[in-house]
Amino acid sequence: MPTRQVKLSINDQEVQAEEGITLLEAAREKAIGIPTLCYNEELSSYGACRLCLVEIFRGNRSRLVTSCNYLVEEGLVVRTDTEQVRRTRKMVAELLLARSPNSEKIQQVARDLGVERCRFPLEDNDCILCGLCVRTCREVVGVEALGFSSRGSKREVVTPFCEPSQVCIGCGACAYVCPTGYIELKDEDGVRKIWDREFKLRRCRLCGNYFAPEFQLKYIQEKWKIPRETLELCPSCHD
Ligand code: SF4
Ligand code: FES
Repeated sequence: MPTRQVKLSINDQEVQAEEGITLLEAAREKAIGIPTLCYNEELSSYGACRLCLVEIFRGNRSRLVTSCNYLVEEGLVVRTDTEQVRRTRKMVAELLLARSPNSEKIQQVARDLGVERCRFPLEDNDCILCGLCVRTCREVVGVEALGFSSRGSKREVVTPFCEPSQVCIGCGACAYVCPTGYIELKDEDGVRKIWDREFKLRRCRLCGNYFAPEFQLKYIQEKWKIPRETLELCPSCHD
């Protein structure tokens, strides 16, 4: 069935977009840049970082919305570059920087938005609660080894019941997507340490290098019915 199209305006450009897509997707289709941090097109939108704010207008009224989870609407007027958008994004970047001052990714985002100094007290937390790790674990890896606990200032990413997770496969995808380096992953002497667990690493049959946790490879083998021999070589020796 053909998908319904809606017409809207973004920065005075008339845009025709498929119903059900977000303002961010519609803007990107027109090469209109919007900064993001907690968005990843492979994952569900979460709307946590608020960097992707845009201003929407109805009659005389306007308000800021997060474009990564606001769907296109017929006749909507959107601006991605108003004074209010720029000012608020800059403040959001400063708050993120205050929370995770050592993250190069956040430092870069802040620089791009013109933040020259941070007016808020610097914390030493590093997790900005973007949820990329939690969503990647659940939606891409297919296990639920991570989640959020508590609310407000006590909110944090944890393993279930704050115990070493029995469903974690040690793949490290959470550490890979984390923009702040909060998740510690260490490979040493054939063992990977992550989230208070230790995973034995498999050696490549050809080069002998350690390349992935046995547990992760077993999970892949069973889930996608891949023969064990295929998983005995590291990515470099596969080529
Ligand atoms: S640990 Fe990293 S990826 Fe996970 S919520 Fe915190 S900052 Fe985001
Ligand atoms: S990218 Fe939209 S809220 Fe983070």
